[in-house]
Amino acid sequence: MKVELPTPVSTEKMEIDVRDIEGILQGAPMNLPPVPEATITLKDGRVLYIRPIKDSDIDPMLGYLEKVMKVEKDFYDIVGVRVYGEILALRRKRLKDPFTMVGLVNGEWLGFANGRVWDKDVAVSLHTLTFSRRARLGWPMYYAKTYYAMELLGVKEWWSTFESYNGWRMAGLSMAQPTKPWPEFQHELGGAKIFYLTQDMWQGRVKNYIKEVIGQDMNFNVTDEVRKANENFRVPETLDL
Ligand SMILES: CC(C)(COP(=O)(O)OP(=O)(O)OC[C@H]1O[C@@H](n2cnc3c(N)ncnc32)[C@H](O)[C@@H]1OP(=O)(O)O)[C@@H](O)C(=O)NCCC(=O)NCCS
Repeated sequence: MKVELPTPVSTEKMEIDVRDIEGILQGAPMNLPPVPEATITLKDGRVLYIRPIKDSDIDPMLGYLEKVMKVEKDFYDIVGVRVYGEILALRRKRLKDPFTMVGLVNGEWLGFANGRVWDKDVAVSLHTLTFSRRARLGWPMYYAKTYYAMELLGVKEWWSTFESYNGWRMAGLSMAQPTKPWPEFQHELGGAKIFYLTQDMWQGRVKNYIKEVIGQDMNFNVTDEVRKANENFRVPETLDL
């Protein structure tokens, strides 16, 4: 837009440092508590190790997700392409206050869960993924991020939406999550319905969910042995979904 000047000026051109623009576009981050490590034993006996994402994980994850986003089954394509964008956004700093977890079995990347903080009262669930089917591996991944939001961030509400039937069953149905009126309230993932948990719902019942559905609590005291077994992050060699 060019508008005629209402006064004479000393200079008609100014140089802009793009770092100044970056400061405007990014916004100031909130001071979030660290994402804890955790382990849980899956129903097939494998030990799942959940930890926060590291920068060195990002390149191999993006490479693997390029394949996942082409799987036209069980909504892996839409979730894969959205997760690709969210992981790239970590590096490009285009996601407000994210928290991102990977689930590993002997270093192999088999689970994913992420969300972000809306404000001090609300956190938003983004995606859950598993690459090892029929092991209920997605369930502790979703629980881990819900735990982080409710217990460590202490938000009043946790907002999710579900692209897939398996996702809805894992967390919407089995945590008995109600929905907000729609279309008045829309989740940021495509304007879908918002399913939600309040602190009362969490403290009163849902916090026990993982014990009920997996048969044990998450263990936040991770041993050096588990850390060592998972120290070399790698993506699965095959795509068997
Ligand atoms: C949603 C998700 C994380 C759920 O995780 P999960 O329940 O641990 O994993 P699965 O998808 O393997 O299992 C879901 C059900 O489908 C069944 N299933 C999976 N593959 C199957 C197959 N090839 N044939 C028959 N049944 C199959 C499983 O047995 C399971 O039922 P069960 O737990 O009663 O045995 C996972 O399905 C996923 O990553 N989906 C793609 C991405 C997605 O939709 N994310 C959630 C967005 S809302």
